[in-house]
Amino acid sequence: MVDQLWKGRQSGPSASILVRMGQSIDLDIKLFRQDILGSRAHTIMLHSIGVLSQEESQTILAGLRQIAEEIEAGTLPLRAELEDIHTHVENRLIELTGEAGRKLHTARSRNDQIALDTHLYVRDQSVFTCHSLLGLLAVILKRSEEHRATILPGYTHLQIGQPVRLSHHLLAYFWKFLRDFDRFFRAMQTANRLPLGSGALAGVNYPVDREMVQKKLGFSELYENSMDAVSSRDHILEFLFAASVLAVNASRLAEEMILWMSSEFQFLELPDSLTTGSSIMPQKKNPDLAELVRGKSGRFISHLQNLLINLKGLPLTYNRDLQEDRFPLTDTAEQLELLIEALGALLEQAQFRPENMQKSLEAGFATATDLADALVKEHGIPFRDAHHITGRLISYCLKNGKVLQGLETQERAAIHGALTNDAFYFRAISLEASTEKKISRGGTAQGCQEMQTGLARIEFEKRSRISWPGPAPDLL
Ligand code: ARG
Repeated sequence: MVDQLWKGRQSGPSASILVRMGQSIDLDIKLFRQDILGSRAHTIMLHSIGVLSQEESQTILAGLRQIAEEIEAGTLPLRAELEDIHTHVENRLIELTGEAGRKLHTARSRNDQIALDTHLYVRDQSVFTCHSLLGLLAVILKRSEEHRATILPGYTHLQIGQPVRLSHHLLAYFWKFLRDFDRFFRAMQTANRLPLGSGALAGVNYPVDREMVQKKLGFSELYENSMDAVSSRDHILEFLFAASVLAVNASRLAEEMILWMSSEFQFLELPDSLTTGSSIMPQKKNPDLAELVRGKSGRFISHLQNLLINLKGLPLTYNRDLQEDRFPLTDTAEQLELLIEALGALLEQAQFRPENMQKSLEAGFATATDLADALVKEHGIPFRDAHHITGRLISYCLKNGKVLQGLETQERAAIHGALTNDAFYFRAISLEASTEKKISRGGTAQGCQEMQTGLARIEFEKRSRISWPGPAPDLL
């Protein structure tokens, strides 16, 4: 058992329960890059204010580089009694560099250190997620452009409502995920603020150059209040919220894919490589990947709640409860990567079945309103009557197992004289013509689709040109 670095007034070994419950290294090892980067910036700053000599600074930087390699290679043993990532790095640095390493913790506390690590981590993960989302948005744009001419039922109450273009349906998700992108961008901005230099809570007894550390680490701002800096977890909350909304949007799309793949819908097929079979029912082709996307949302939402509940009522400033932020944060970041990749694969590889969409549209009398409107517009029939005539036609279809598209001239004539003209009738019930009448901005007509796609592309391009913050190159 090594002696903990924080041992001040305590004598003798810590109780086993304190060691086992107190450790966070199992999770914050995932923040080792951020921790070491922060220590590099701190070292350079300490040298600049004369706390470290040139030689000590070089020795520490070389030691930190070696430790990063050891962790990367998995050769640095993780020990519960060393608690966290900060202590593992510092302890190893002292082993490697002796006296110099013992000076690194000058003007620093683990309280501002963990705040720094999580800020850097949230910033990195938000940037990463934004990049993944751009990939997903590109897939949606591509698939929607392929399916401008495909018409499918649009639903309300999961009952067939009106025909829409598949491009329109897919682009609805484009805009949702674009807003998700903006939420991660916002989380990135909240995390882009330097907490280091706040010490344990009140500031430090050295003339530290916080602006220099801020610049080295590429932060756009720094915390102006040390107590705020070490107690705030807003940046993590915003990241978890962005992830929860994204997961909910993803879950709705996954649900639609699951429905559409069922034998009742048959609107799409997935390749075998993205589906599973059953150990007992040989006919099965299950959309497990889409179900997992749908199912992950509960996990994301609970992580957000977990941290909100943890923070509520915590007095300023640092309290050990804050260490519990590590699980929601790292688990969310890791699961997000999987979620976006899975969704991208599902969307990219789905084979849509326009012929079945058409069958559903016909069976659902999706253009009944269009027919009633045409009777009003072209035959001067009052809407109330037109509605009634169309209703009678539909009940005739239902009784005789027919669809509007399959009715003979005489069958229609028996309902109402205005329905005998074939050209009028088939134009009025045409699925394509129905979508073409939805010419309001944001509607499903072909022209509106073109405009919408153009706008979507502009928004996409804007976001792919963002220049992201990051550490100064000489720090890496
Ligand atoms: N492992 C701790 C955490 O992650 C580091 C800060 C500990 N500070 C303290 N005063 N015990 O939150």
